[in-house]
Amino acid sequence: MTNRVIIGGQWGDEGKGKIVDALSRDMDWVVRYQGGANAGHTIVRDEGKIVLHLVPSGLLSKGVRGYLGNGMVIDPWALMDEIVGLEAQGVHVRDRMFVSASAHLILPYHKRRDELAESKRKRKSIGTTGRGIGPAYMDKCQRVGLRMGDLLLPLENLERKVIEKVLEANELLAALYNAEPLPSEAIAQELVVLARSLAPMIVDGHTVLAGVRQGTESVLFEGAQGTLLDLDHGSYPYVTSSSPSVGGALTGSGLPPRSLGEVNGVFKAYCTRVGNGPFPTELHAEDGEALRSIGGEFGATTGRARRCGWFDLVAARYAVELNGMNGVFITKLDVLDTMNEIKVAVSYDLDGKPLGQFPTSPEAQARCVPVYRSFPGWESPVDGARSLKELPAKARQYLEFLEKELGVHIEGVSVGPHRDQTIWTPEGVTT
Ligand code: IMP
Repeated sequence: MTNRVIIGGQWGDEGKGKIVDALSRDMDWVVRYQGGANAGHTIVRDEGKIVLHLVPSGLLSKGVRGYLGNGMVIDPWALMDEIVGLEAQGVHVRDRMFVSASAHLILPYHKRRDELAESKRKRKSIGTTGRGIGPAYMDKCQRVGLRMGDLLLPLENLERKVIEKVLEANELLAALYNAEPLPSEAIAQELVVLARSLAPMIVDGHTVLAGVRQGTESVLFEGAQGTLLDLDHGSYPYVTSSSPSVGGALTGSGLPPRSLGEVNGVFKAYCTRVGNGPFPTELHAEDGEALRSIGGEFGATTGRARRCGWFDLVAARYAVELNGMNGVFITKLDVLDTMNEIKVAVSYDLDGKPLGQFPTSPEAQARCVPVYRSFPGWESPVDGARSLKELPAKARQYLEFLEKELGVHIEGVSVGPHRDQTIWTPEGVTT
């Protein structure tokens, strides 16, 4: 099996879960390398819909082993809820999921700080998911965080350490936000209970992933969020606090570059963004509403309405180049079925001058006016198509245009939410 990295090419929510689910069936490992329970990966199976936040989507296939890498920030309450919820749906992952001892813990004070910081920012808020992601990465960088490995400490030591951390956090939150204290002892006791259940899954990743390093075991890296939300390369400060782009796969897993294999991007056939920040091709009022309601564009994690807009080639080319993508997947083509006109931003106009590159500053991104190319809609359902030939000619033209402009093969097109509603095109879509 060829190793792969699957990366969101836009602002997250591209439908990576479904692609990862399909591509990981014969893999030995699926590795998450960044983020936490801010992600929401939805997979539709015969047995029903499954939404995953921390557990890698690839684990829905039996026999695949999952690894939550050191680059992640893990809320142990959320992880346990997810494991138990999956068991209720007949999916058992405890004996084939491993968590890096070096991944950082998200504790209740991180979530509290996330919420309080957001409300203090008022109109300048980032629109975070409120899952404590930024504050947990802050503690990691400040070198004061607790890690999954701490759950392996003798339980009295763990309890004492957690109480100290919560008391410290209470002081900080009171000073910064005049916040009520969190119950340190109750939190520590709950964590001790969780530690007992999670301990068997906590590992030294360097040892566990030795087969991947040696090339005897295959791996698929499952990115969460998307390139334009990358802390370094996205629309800072309107980003998440991790590295969803390709570099994160290395630092967040501890695996060497030769383990990466193919680097593939996932792009929706249009664009969405949840939370604040620049979005050049955003559609407002009825036009945006049409995409939102047909595409069911509401967050899998927070239920928030996603902002919707046309496909942005300038931003997409940036994601392809930045990550060195050598193949992409297009999802949710069926959402465009009823449109009589479909637009793609081919360049921008910035302060009266043409611009072909995605600008770095969010102020410039916000001032970019898209220059569109228009396509006639196919105005018929594509959800039953399983080969390119079964797609309407106008849908093929749209895909061929995207493939040509992105400069890489479209290796698959998703035409509906179900596992089987995918057209696999390893040779690309241009006939
Ligand atoms: P945080 O990751 O919760 O700190 O949120 C930072 C920004 O990233 C906000 O705009 C969120 O809406 C966005 N974000 C975080 N996770 C996801 C995701 O999985 N999909 C889409 N947007 C996300």
